[in-house]
Amino acid sequence: MATSDLDDGYDAFEQFNRSAGMGIVENPYPMFALVRPQHPMKREDDNGSGIVPEGSDIEFMPIDRSVGVFTAYSFEAVQQVLKDGETFSSQGYADIMGKVLGHSILEMDEPEHHLYRGLVQQAFSRKAMETWERELVRDVVDEHIDAFADRPTKRADLVRELTFPFPVVVISRLLGLPREDLPMFHRRAVEVISAGFELERAAKASQALFEYFCAIIAERREHPSDDVISVLVRAELEGVRLTDEEICSFLRLLLPAGAETTYRSSSNLLHGLLTNPEQLDALRADRALLPQAIEEGLRWEAPLIAIMRSATRDTEVEGVLVPAGSFVGVNIGSANHDEKVWERPEEFDIFRPPRQHLAFAWGPHMCLGIHLARMETRVVLTQVLDRLPGLRPDPEAEPAAISGAIFRAPAALPVVWD
Ligand code: HEM
Repeated sequence: MATSDLDDGYDAFEQFNRSAGMGIVENPYPMFALVRPQHPMKREDDNGSGIVPEGSDIEFMPIDRSVGVFTAYSFEAVQQVLKDGETFSSQGYADIMGKVLGHSILEMDEPEHHLYRGLVQQAFSRKAMETWERELVRDVVDEHIDAFADRPTKRADLVRELTFPFPVVVISRLLGLPREDLPMFHRRAVEVISAGFELERAAKASQALFEYFCAIIAERREHPSDDVISVLVRAELEGVRLTDEEICSFLRLLLPAGAETTYRSSSNLLHGLLTNPEQLDALRADRALLPQAIEEGLRWEAPLIAIMRSATRDTEVEGVLVPAGSFVGVNIGSANHDEKVWERPEEFDIFRPPRQHLAFAWGPHMCLGIHLARMETRVVLTQVLDRLPGLRPDPEAEPAAISGAIFRAPAALPVVWD
């Protein structure tokens, strides 16, 4: 990749970090552990405590407190809410992310959701995943590592130089975008994923991407290829095909859903390993441990710890009555640290017995990109371990720390190698 492309990404990254207020909530887990045993499903009081604490770094959850505000904290409560899409609707996202992304599957309920999810997931087949791993993701990761691996200082910030930029480049190549458009796409992508902090700027970037994608969709309708956009223009289910607008909404959803989360999952896992050197050594010696290390990284520090639903009817969760119309915060982070399910839940331990975590959610809206996310994380970890021998935290830099009230990751991962 040309240096100017990277520079553009760096600028956007710095802005993203500044606006994301990365340092505000350092570790919410002790607070969750205090609440969870007594209130697995908690009715929140009116002062904004709970999942969206006052002064948190997120402004994009306007909550109507007139009916009821609840937070699901336990594994059981979170799973029950996510499993039942009829009682717990996703439509509330229309007032939030919908303003930036358009009408996407994220905010649809059944039966509409089932149909559209069936259409868009045709672009994410197992066969496509294998080809992408072999022909695309490894190259993108390697290009990023090439830019710093031979540096005489043997020092880098893995977030700024690798984990933040590479998922956006992967998406641009999956979509078959012309390489010369990458700097523009990268900048706009970062602006869109900043929707939680700078809604107006995100909406402008989203409009610009809409116009850009419409031209590309028209071109792919004329000259289809084998990229994701070409698959989407051809996709058909029960006699329904996707309109340009629907394709655009999905393509824009891929940025916050697919790029930002992957940056966070690979950074959090690297942080867990770098701060637990005996586990990093074990993984270096036995790469068969990688899949369980990836799952433990996702459980321990999920990229996205809170999502939302609204109750469509009066219901009960963990013995608590939830009236129709209530806002329900779904605390995935807390569920993944539930002491009823995991021993020593606050510890990062890649040797845990395998258990399903909820980092990818559950039920009808369970992450569509789950296989892509795992594959990208596997490739980035493999290449980092292969190409940066003796990788360890930079002893001269400020120690890295994971932060964020809803989206969590370290803002930097300063490292050295041999
Ligand atoms: C480790 C990385 C990832 C994590 C932790 C993650 C997590 C999640 C979660 C929690 C949801 C549910 C949101 C909700 O219902 O409110 C979701 C949905 C979704 N994710 Fe991911 N995701 C990741 C990577 C990806 C990737 C790489 C893609 C790219 C294809 C992707 C695409 C989507 C889409 C399209 C949805 C909406 C699904 C629906 O509403 O039916 N995600 N993801």
